[in-house]
Amino acid sequence: MKLKLWATLGLALFTLTGTATAANPTYVGAEKCKLCHKVEYASWLTTKHAKAYEALSPADRAKPECIRCHITGNTKDLPGVQCEACHGPGSDYKSLTIMKSREKSTAAGLILPTEKTCTACHNSKSPQFKSFNYAEMVKKVHDKKTK
Ligand code: HEC
Ligand code: HEC
Ligand code: HEC
Ligand code: HEC
Repeated sequence: MKLKLWATLGLALFTLTGTATAANPTYVGAEKCKLCHKVEYASWLTTKHAKAYEALSPADRAKPECIRCHITGNTKDLPGVQCEACHGPGSDYKSLTIMKSREKSTAAGLILPTEKTCTACHNSKSPQFKSFNYAEMVKKVHDKKTK
């Protein structure tokens, strides 16, 4: 009897997590965003975010506790603080039909960043942390637009 109950519970859990995983978007990398957002891409390249991985010494690049805020999507394949570190993983929103609609994009995982997005990394767990003034700092994120 007990065994059957656990099996039923297990199946219910499996179904729930299975659904959640299927809906989880994945990281595609800044090169994919560049296709349609050349201006933002070019300006981003000039920021420290783009070079945040290179800023680490080779020894520190081997330390998971260091790289986590200096890479995107928890993978060294996407070095630096790329678009998706702030705007969310793009696999489900990057197609033109979705992107054209803000509503559809955000439903597919696009994040319109707020202060909280930044303080996930700009906080006292960063050894270099002094302070973070959102109003001042946010001006620098896309400030070198070349339009
Ligand atoms: C196929 C073209 C295309 C690709 C690829 C693409 N976008 Fe977009 N994106 C658009 C269009 C079109 C808009 C809406 C209008 C505009 O930019 O003027 C948009 C809007 C946005 C907005 C503004 C949303 C708003 O309502 O203010 C953000 C942020 C954004 N995209 C981020 C990204 C990121 C990050 C990626 C890569 C993961 C990406 N886009 C990939 C075409 C694209
Ligand atoms: C919680 C996120 C986080 C962690 C963990 C983290 N950093 Fe950083 N790091 C940042 C942020 C954000 C900055 C930008 C300065 C600031 O506001 O803290 C930064 C800046 C730096 C800089 C300055 C780069 C420059 O251009 O001057 C170095 C070097 C650095 N971090 C090394 C490290 C090392 C080494 C570790 C591991 C011991 C580490 N970081 C762990 C978020 C983090
Ligand atoms: C450090 C976080 C961060 C990163 C990295 C970042 N963005 Fe943004 N993005 C923002 C914020 C905040 C806004 C809204 C305020 C603004 O426009 O500055 C924004 C706005 C936008 C917009 C709306 C229109 C505009 O230009 O204001 C687009 C499109 C966009 N970002 C695309 C990108 C792309 C493409 C990349 C990578 C090449 C990228 N972003 C990297 C934080 C970020
Ligand atoms: C994934 C972690 C992460 C997120 C999210 C993030 N940052 Fe950063 N940011 C960093 C790191 C790491 C650096 C340091 C890079 C370096 O110095 O090489 C940095 C540097 C900066 C700098 C450059 C500081 C300087 O001294 O020139 C500004 C400005 C900045 N961030 C603003 C923002 C804003 C605004 C947001 C939110 C919209 C944001 N960041 C989100 C990790 C992050």
